[in-house]
Amino acid sequence: MSYPWLRGDGRLRHLVTLEHMPRAVLESLLVQAQAMHDADPRILRQRLVGRTLCNLFFEPSTRTRCSFQLAAQRLGMDVLNFDLASSSAGKGETDADTLATLRAMRIDAFAVRHSDDAAATQLASQLDAADSVLINAGVGRTAHPSQGLLDMLTLRQAKGDDFSRLRVVICGDIRHSRVARSDIHALSVLGAGEIRLCGPRNLLPDSDEFAHCPRFDRFDDALAGADAVIMLRLQRERMAQGLVASREDYFRDWGLDPRRLALAAADAIVLHPGPMNRGIEIDSQVADGPQSRVLQQVRNGVAMRMAILWHLLADD
Ligand code: CP
Repeated sequence: MSYPWLRGDGRLRHLVTLEHMPRAVLESLLVQAQAMHDADPRILRQRLVGRTLCNLFFEPSTRTRCSFQLAAQRLGMDVLNFDLASSSAGKGETDADTLATLRAMRIDAFAVRHSDDAAATQLASQLDAADSVLINAGVGRTAHPSQGLLDMLTLRQAKGDDFSRLRVVICGDIRHSRVARSDIHALSVLGAGEIRLCGPRNLLPDSDEFAHCPRFDRFDDALAGADAVIMLRLQRERMAQGLVASREDYFRDWGLDPRRLALAAADAIVLHPGPMNRGIEIDSQVADGPQSRVLQQVRNGVAMRMAILWHLLADD
C-alpha cells in the first residue's frame, strides 16, 4: 500500500497518518524520540533556533498542545498558540484563510487539532505550495498520529522493540476513537502479534475495518495473558446519545479494575491517552498503580513531539 506523505529523500513531508507508514520511518521516529528522551536538554536547545511552531487547535487539549509547545521550546523554537476563542474564526473566517494568514507570518510548522476527519489532509494540501509542514495533532475520529507514536514508544520501553510477540488489548469506544485508530495503524505497521479489540458492540468499528484484529464480547476473555492494555476514554456524549446505558453498567462490563488486570500477564502494562474518567473506564487503583504507564505516556509525549519536529524540520 503506498503512503502519500513522503518526500523524495524518504522522510515525511507532513505527519498526517500512521496508516501504511513505512516501517523504517516509524521505527526511526521511535529511535529518535528515545534519544531525545535520554538526552541532556541543554544540548538540544540550539537544534531548531529561528524556526516557529504554531499550535493551531480548533478543539480543546491539555496534553498534546502543552507537549508540542514544550517540545518546540526545548529545541529552541518560537511558539505561537492560536487562541480559537479570541480569534477571527468567530467572525466567520474559514480554516483555510486562518492557515494562510498565519502562514504569511512565516510559520514553519503547524500542529493542527480539529473535529473534522478531513481537516489534516485538506490543510496539508494547502501547505504543499509552501515549505511549511503540518502535524496532525488529532482530527475527527480518524487519526492522532503523535499519540499513536508516543504509545508505541511507551510499549517499546517496557517490552522491547520486537512487537511480534505482543498481545495488545484495546478496550472501549473504538468506533469513535482517533487514538485507537492510530494505535491500531502503528501496531499493524510494527507487526504486533495480536491486536485484540473489545468494547460494547455498538462502539466497535464496522466489521470490515481492522478485520485482522480479533474482537471479544467479554473484556475478561480479551485480557487473558495480554502484555498491554490500552484503555480509551468514554466520551460523555455517548451516554447522552443512549449508546451506553449508564456509567455503572459501563464500568461493570468494560472498566479495568485490579481483579480484571490480574487476568493479563503479570508484567502487563496499562496505557490511557487521557483525560481519564476514573470509575467509568478505569479504576483509580489501576490508573495510579504500578502497572500504569499513563504519566510515562505524558512524559514520552514531549520527547516524541521533539522527534517529530526534528524529523520534519531538520535541514540535513
Ligand atoms: N491524549 C490527548 O490527546 O489528550 P489532550 O486532548 O489533552 O491533548
